Amino acid sequence: MKQVEGRTAFITGGASGIGLSMARSFGRAGMNVVLADIDPDALETALADLHQRQIKAIGVECDVVSRESMQEAAKKAIAEFGKVHVVCNNAGVGAGGPIEEVRPSDWDWVIDVNLKGVVIGTEVFAPIMREQGEGGHFVNTASMAGMVSPPGMEPYNATKFAVVAMSEGWRGQLEPLDIGVSVLCPGFVKTRIHESGRARQSEYGEAVEENEAVAGAAAEFVLNGLDPDRVGERVLEAVRGNELYIFTHPDMRPAVEMRFAGIMEAFDRAEQSDALKGSGYSSPQDLTAIGRQE
Ligand SMILES: NC(=O)c1ccc[n+]([C@@H]2O[C@H](COP(=O)([O-])OP(=O)(O)OC[C@H]3O[C@@H](n4cnc5c(N)ncnc54)[C@H](O)[C@@H]3O)[C@@H](O)[C@H]2O)c1
Repeated sequence: MKQVEGRTAFITGGASGIGLSMARSFGRAGMNVVLADIDPDALETALADLHQRQIKAIGVECDVVSRESMQEAAKKAIAEFGKVHVVCNNAGVGAGGPIEEVRPSDWDWVIDVNLKGVVIGTEVFAPIMREQGEGGHFVNTASMAGMVSPPGMEPYNATKFAVVAMSEGWRGQLEPLDIGVSVLCPGFVKTRIHESGRARQSEYGEAVEENEAVAGAAAEFVLNGLDPDRVGERVLEAVRGNELYIFTHPDMRPAVEMRFAGIMEAFDRAEQSDALKGSGYSSPQDLTAIGRQE
């Protein structure tokens, strides 16, 4: 979407960190902004920040795990600004730990917010954008944890890999409607993600005291992370350029290369495998045919 001025962005998890940084960048570029967040106090503070910068913005309380809440928030956004052109499915939380310590409720919480929240945001807004007929753009926040899987972060990693996968698929589905899809994969960014237990809904139970060494190390990485405002600016560039993958930490390339090298070595072993020799099978090469809508 080359022309963003005068258009409207809807950002989940918009009251803090990366979401707020996108709001500032979009607002500076002349967009209207809707912050959708579960935390009303953070919304108030974030809105004051945007208004002080002369950015046209409203805040709506929204829990991304609830379809009704997302639909309500969409209605409020449209009532205020008429249309929504850019949707950032960005709200996210973290939990992890040793296999025997991650509780079912931790898995549920992380999957519901990080994965299903992105599904709900896409399913609510894609029909709205189609109806508007002006194209649009989705930015789904994954992570470098959607590209490589550090041990101890499995619930988080699983949801972020899923966000990458869904974004790749939806991009193909939505392209004919002139709706772009990007997947944002940052490394460490200086936000409050290490305190995400503050946004944990009561139905998922109390956040447990995390293993101190693990939590401490993660917090230190985050607190020494990239300035979030850099991420907002990078996202704006990528929306204008309709980029699929958005990276903000180019120095993390070796971690991805190492993973892909391991995958390529596994293909080499398959090519040389006695078990597979002479099967005569050949796979279809154009997998996009599966979901192509004529
Ligand atoms: N900070 C990092 O190092 C980093 C790195 C890679 C990816 N990310 C991803 O970036 C996204 C934004 O996180 P952040 O780092 O800005 O953290 P943050 O904690 O500063 O901001 C997250 C925001 O999401 C909101 N939120 C949480 N649960 C919600 C829900 N159910 N419904 C609506 N809003 C909800 C919180 O209230 C908060 O305002 C997340 O998806 C996170 O996984 C962060």
